Amino acid sequence: MTENHSEHLPVLLDETLTALVIEADGFYLDGTFGRGGHSRAILSQLSEQGRLVGLDRDPDAIAEGQKLAKQDPRFNIEQGEFSQLSTIVHEHLWQGKINGILLDIGVSSPQLDIAQRGFSFQKDGPLDMRMDPTSGISAAEWLATADMADIEVVIKTLGEERYGKRIARAIVETREHTPITTTKQLATLVDKASPSRERNKHPATRTFQAIRIYINNELDELKAGLEQALDVLAVGGRLAVISFHSLEDRIVKRFFRDQAKGDDLPAYFPITADQLNPRVKIIGKAIKAGEQELAGNPRARSAVLRIVEKLA
Ligand SMILES: C[S@@+](CC[C@H](N)C(=O)[O-])C[C@H]1O[C@@H](n2cnc3c(N)ncnc32)[C@H](O)[C@@H]1O
Repeated sequence: MTENHSEHLPVLLDETLTALVIEADGFYLDGTFGRGGHSRAILSQLSEQGRLVGLDRDPDAIAEGQKLAKQDPRFNIEQGEFSQLSTIVHEHLWQGKINGILLDIGVSSPQLDIAQRGFSFQKDGPLDMRMDPTSGISAAEWLATADMADIEVVIKTLGEERYGKRIARAIVETREHTPITTTKQLATLVDKASPSRERNKHPATRTFQAIRIYINNELDELKAGLEQALDVLAVGGRLAVISFHSLEDRIVKRFFRDQAKGDDLPAYFPITADQLNPRVKIIGKAIKAGEQELAGNPRARSAVLRIVEKLA
């Protein structure tokens, strides 16, 4: 693998295809195209009538999707965010017609592996971390101006990092004499500011995760994506979501549970559970990667797949 080339192995691939219950003539949406691992597998199960739209906010993913769209007339690629999912579906006139939607959230392997993207504390690159580098501000720009208290809150809540205060202070003290512009600079600074370390985990892991989630507004995007995906699915359609850390999985789990419960009425109301108008049925339990997949793809370690079927 070179510095500028990276593959992405799709996680929980068989499990995702089973979850989506692919109908050969159906309409599908891959909300996280990435390098198209899941999309290609979905296409391999579709007939000539079947259709798939891929969505991603990352221009590199879009370039890959455009190549696939040239080869396969059943496929279209769209650049956009989860919060634009419903608009994009309306443009395709697919509202209420979609049989299955996949959200394989988080970052792709190329985003992490290519030093220039600035996501990795293991490689030196510009401190960017934007999934779409043409929009919003980079991590370096944010760290240059943000209040120390805001930096601390982000690192503590989105990184679940107990040394958030010390790290935020070290960032603010450093930037007074030296701008923090590279991933290595930030990783070294966090390392020095952390009084203890977890086994097998670089001390900057949590801080990088936190800043990345903040810069890309990932949790609000996820909430919007879940809402909009459910709105545009056909009745009987499936929504499959793969998340990679507890903050994301908690949002998915709660959203599915609330939608499966239906109207929020006091327990003493004299009605049965199905009179509460549940919007979805939860399909099975959370699914994790098996031993065999983990042996070939360590990044599948923290992946969790959850599935719902739309009822109304
Ligand atoms: C884990 S990768 C998906 C990999 C893909 N399933 C594959 O097999 O190649 C996640 C992708 O989702 C995209 N993404 C993450 N959050 C997004 C959002 N809010 N809107 C649009 N795309 C997003 C990222 O840019 C990234 O390419």
